[in-house]
Amino acid sequence: MRDVMLSGLRVGALGLGCMNLTTSYGPVDRDQALAVLRDAFDGGVRFWDTADVYALGDNERLLGEFLATVPRDEVVLATKFGGVRDPETGRPLGVRGDPAYVREACEASLRRLGTDHIDLYYQHLPDPAVPIEETVGAMAELVDEGKVRCIGLSNLGTDQLRAAHGEHPIAAVQNEWNLFYRKVESALVPACAELGIAFVPYSPLGRGVLTGATITTTELDAEDERRMFPRFAPQHARHNAALLGPVHRLAEAHGATPAQIALAWLVQRSEVHGLTVVPIPGTRHPARVKENVAALDLRLGQDDLDAVEGIAGQVSGERLPELPPELRHFMPEIV
Ligand SMILES: NC(=O)c1ccc[n+]([C@@H]2O[C@H](COP(=O)([O-])OP(=O)(O)OC[C@H]3O[C@@H](n4cnc5c(N)ncnc54)[C@H](OP(=O)(O)O)[C@@H]3O)[C@@H](O)[C@H]2O)c1
Repeated sequence: MRDVMLSGLRVGALGLGCMNLTTSYGPVDRDQALAVLRDAFDGGVRFWDTADVYALGDNERLLGEFLATVPRDEVVLATKFGGVRDPETGRPLGVRGDPAYVREACEASLRRLGTDHIDLYYQHLPDPAVPIEETVGAMAELVDEGKVRCIGLSNLGTDQLRAAHGEHPIAAVQNEWNLFYRKVESALVPACAELGIAFVPYSPLGRGVLTGATITTTELDAEDERRMFPRFAPQHARHNAALLGPVHRLAEAHGATPAQIALAWLVQRSEVHGLTVVPIPGTRHPARVKENVAALDLRLGQDDLDAVEGIAGQVSGERLPELPPELRHFMPEIV
């Protein structure tokens, strides 16, 4: 895989989203999850993304279990803090970005991951009660202490990014960006390009929809978090699946899969914007890690790009879950 550097970290052109290796998208067998990590590791996909809230810490524990079997520096480890959940039910309780919490969350992640440092530490989402500069200042102290190599920010807007970058260099921004969600291209992506900040698109496959699968709330496992997302309601899911005609046609023409077209599109869009991009698709299937890496060899022509240009504007259903008013800031609509 092509080398990509992210603030001195050698990450490769594709990472692995590890969220659905525990319960987020339904139950996963532990051995299967470890097999995915092993396969990714052996295949050179070594930029791994987790967060303290995934499976209430168990996702980090899973990665820690694997990391104990390989030299630590062979994996570039990214995790996040900031979302606070009920430890029993997992229900979102709010967001914290105050300096004391940043330190506490980092120590807890280090323990679960079984490591003495996090390569890329993200604020999962800004705390509306704490200026982002204050949170980033606390993260910078962790860098000075060697507990964190680089700082990232997730689910934020352009003004917040500029303010944060003024406090301490930001290595990466992680927001959603895919064929179905392109609002970030208007301001946040250009800002990252201008400031030399890498973009790590989350849900690059639209939480699975862009693979061509029709995913509906009626068929999802009871534990699958996608049941909360309006976009997966049957009427929206059917409408959105029908938008993928051009993606299926490109897949056929290139001898590729829809997932590969979606990833290749993202890489080529990033080239248009002149920025470093490292998508982090998630999968519970080792073979799909290879399939996703192979997408990096695909080259779409201008006609191909034009054929999918209008899709995002036609997507039906809200992107984010409906939360009670007091928790709206937990999943902000970011442009
Ligand atoms: N910062 C944030 O707020 C935030 C939010 C969401 C996600 N994330 C990060 O982004 C990562 C990826 O996002 P995501 O998991 O939400 O969505 P995604 O990567 O867009 O899609 C994952 C889904 O696609 C399927 N899939 C993956 N590769 C495939 C292939 N080649 N063929 C067919 N199906 C394929 C997976 O199913 P199978 O498992 O069955 O293969 C899974 O259901 C997460 O793991 C997490 O680390 C961050």
